[in-house]
Amino acid sequence: MLSAKQILECKGKRKIAQITAYDFGFAQIAEAAGIDQILVGDSLANTMLGYKSTQSVGMPEMLIFVSAVVRGAPNTHVVADMPFQSDSDPKTALENAKRFIDVGASSVKLEGYKPEIIETLLQNGIEVCGHLGLLPQTATSFKQVGKTEEEAGRILKEAVALSEMGVYEMVLEHIPEALGKQITQAVKSITIGIGGGSHTDGHVTVLHDALGIHAGKIPPFATRFCNLYETAKKGIEAYIDFVRKESL
Ligand code: KIV
Ligand code: NA
Repeated sequence: MLSAKQILECKGKRKIAQITAYDFGFAQIAEAAGIDQILVGDSLANTMLGYKSTQSVGMPEMLIFVSAVVRGAPNTHVVADMPFQSDSDPKTALENAKRFIDVGASSVKLEGYKPEIIETLLQNGIEVCGHLGLLPQTATSFKQVGKTEEEAGRILKEAVALSEMGVYEMVLEHIPEALGKQITQAVKSITIGIGGGSHTDGHVTVLHDALGIHAGKIPPFATRFCNLYETAKKGIEAYIDFVRKESL
């Protein structure tokens, strides 16, 4: 299991491969494949529960999925995503982050620039992964962000501030490649891109997009590495055939 410190030591030496997983089975597969980190993202609202918005899940759901992933990947660094409003103030955020650590997460991820909350977690010994750029919990559009000089400048400043606070890692979502590169060079933390170009210190992808678990559209920056939807559909069709061919 890579600690936050060991992940940080990879900066400039080797890239970090992170993928989301939400359940016991896929956590086992990701660990067997040798993934560096598993993110139990609140994207499980979409992928696992069929909601439109990540605002639809809270701590009760997240704790069930984080525990399942830890059971499946006991030797992998698991990052638990703080769901909508679970980090609304420092005290609430600390209580909730501790609940994730108690069920076996190695660090927590927090969406947005929330210095007071992040400092509270860090002061209490909790390893924090930041998340800047597109912020799905509060975004009204899923377009790339940081395209104007002003917005890019703000994101860069926030990234540097997070790094100085001591976050070991930060996710950079759907920003221009040049900004991803600039932030990666400017911060001490590991940068994990998801639509942040090819210069970040590592990448994260949503499991269901990467493995083709659904037949729907994937974001423009995602890659489908295999097609489990078709494989599974064929498997179920074969099973149906098998049952129907059995003699009465
Ligand atoms: O919830 C999630 O899966 C995420 C990643 C897309 C970074 O936050
Ligand atoms: Na998320």
